[in-house]
Amino acid sequence: MPEKNKRINVLFAAAEAEPFIKVGGLGDVAGALPISIQKSATHAIDIRLVIPFHAAIKEKQLPTEFLGSFAINSAAGTSECLVYAITNEGLTVYLLDSEAINHKSPVYHANPVEDGRKYAFFSIACVELVKFLDWKVDIFHSNDWHTAVAIYALATNYKDDPFFHNTAKIISVHNMPFNGYGAQPALTELGIAPSNDSNLPEWAKLTPLPLGLVAADKIIAVSEGYAKEILTPEFGCGLDEFLITRSERIIGIVNGIDTQIWDPATDPYLVQNYSRNNLGAKANNKAELQKTYGLEINQEIPLLTLISRMDNQKGIDIALRGLNRVINEDWQAIILGTGNPQIEKMAIDLAKMYPDRIKTITKFDPALSHQLYAGADIFLMPSRYEPCGISQMISMRYGTIPVARATGGLVDTITHYRGNTDEATGFLFKHKYPSAFANGLLRALNTYKNKPIWIKLQQNGMDKDFSWQHSANAYVEVYKSLLK
Ligand code: GLC
Repeated sequence: MPEKNKRINVLFAAAEAEPFIKVGGLGDVAGALPISIQKSATHAIDIRLVIPFHAAIKEKQLPTEFLGSFAINSAAGTSECLVYAITNEGLTVYLLDSEAINHKSPVYHANPVEDGRKYAFFSIACVELVKFLDWKVDIFHSNDWHTAVAIYALATNYKDDPFFHNTAKIISVHNMPFNGYGAQPALTELGIAPSNDSNLPEWAKLTPLPLGLVAADKIIAVSEGYAKEILTPEFGCGLDEFLITRSERIIGIVNGIDTQIWDPATDPYLVQNYSRNNLGAKANNKAELQKTYGLEINQEIPLLTLISRMDNQKGIDIALRGLNRVINEDWQAIILGTGNPQIEKMAIDLAKMYPDRIKTITKFDPALSHQLYAGADIFLMPSRYEPCGISQMISMRYGTIPVARATGGLVDTITHYRGNTDEATGFLFKHKYPSAFANGLLRALNTYKNKPIWIKLQQNGMDKDFSWQHSANAYVEVYKSLLK
């Protein structure tokens, strides 16, 4: 019988984590969630994070401590894995380094076979790490395809290892379309056998993400909306029918944001701080942007912003085409982001067509992103799919009203304005077409003209609690329910 108040040991494995390395939203989550779980008052948790010692982290020359090394055996021979540790806000973080983890490569390798090899080895190294530390974990928590093989290995190769008898297995799904296909040769080299689950499609039987989904005691999607969507052909990426056979194990827990970093009342990047009760001061941040980017300095003209990785997922092309459709309305826009060169070019071209109204900045600029969240009136988020989404929560915290596609976590975090201001925080549009985006934006532009209603929507968003604590408590409940 599990002791009720026993401390729970958790290894949280991910490909990236702030403040060490961040490529996308997974880095935000893996950086913040374990710290919040550790601080959770509802149960004593010893949670530790493990990530690869990426080349880009090495360059930072952090004061890591070398703990020792262990071997990873594969058909190609034995490779040594070096273990380093560092603490971040009280959280123990392990950094694993070996030739097999391929530390000279970027965080994500463009070649799926190389990337598959890197993360297949990293996954097995995460399992071996636990033995190296002689630390009995109650919960092995993997994230996305990169660490999914770890829990599959626990369910297969390590099944009879008494060391892991009490280890429950969790996978959080941040992005289904990335499944690790290409890792097959490395998995074979590591002695990982294909799954014999007859509900899996053939291509998935030796593919990391599906293997993790097969092995998991609990599958956590990063929002309730996404937890339902992945059971449908549109979002299930070929695994929806398999996932339906697992539906009782699937739940959704929405992410949070770092409410200290993202706080308009204290944000050091702003020309003037503000809060829900002095929203007037937000105007100075807008005027500053208008001045800096050569836009007409005029509070009456709504300033739109789009801050995003330039990736097909994010639907930026939908917004750019949609903006063209409402070009006769009065608005200005600042677009910030980098990524896919074609999408970047589209955004640059639109700005060239309307140079006094639209600015496109294709760089990674954290300070500017803070200033845009604060200075803009409307935040555009036209995602094709969005497992959770983080920036819409930040924009609401800054009183910047989102116009977003009704999908995944966007539906869970934004309350659509239908004429009733009690709860509404933004505008959702249904279809992934420029015309639908344009209609959603038009509704926001019209509402902007009615100041009392607009301010109420801003305050509703700013009053929402998007802090990590809710999610952390929900994760702790899952951990408790899985104790063996
Ligand atoms: C992925 C998803 C995004 C989510 C993030 C963190 O980047 O695309 O919607 O917010 O993971 O879970």
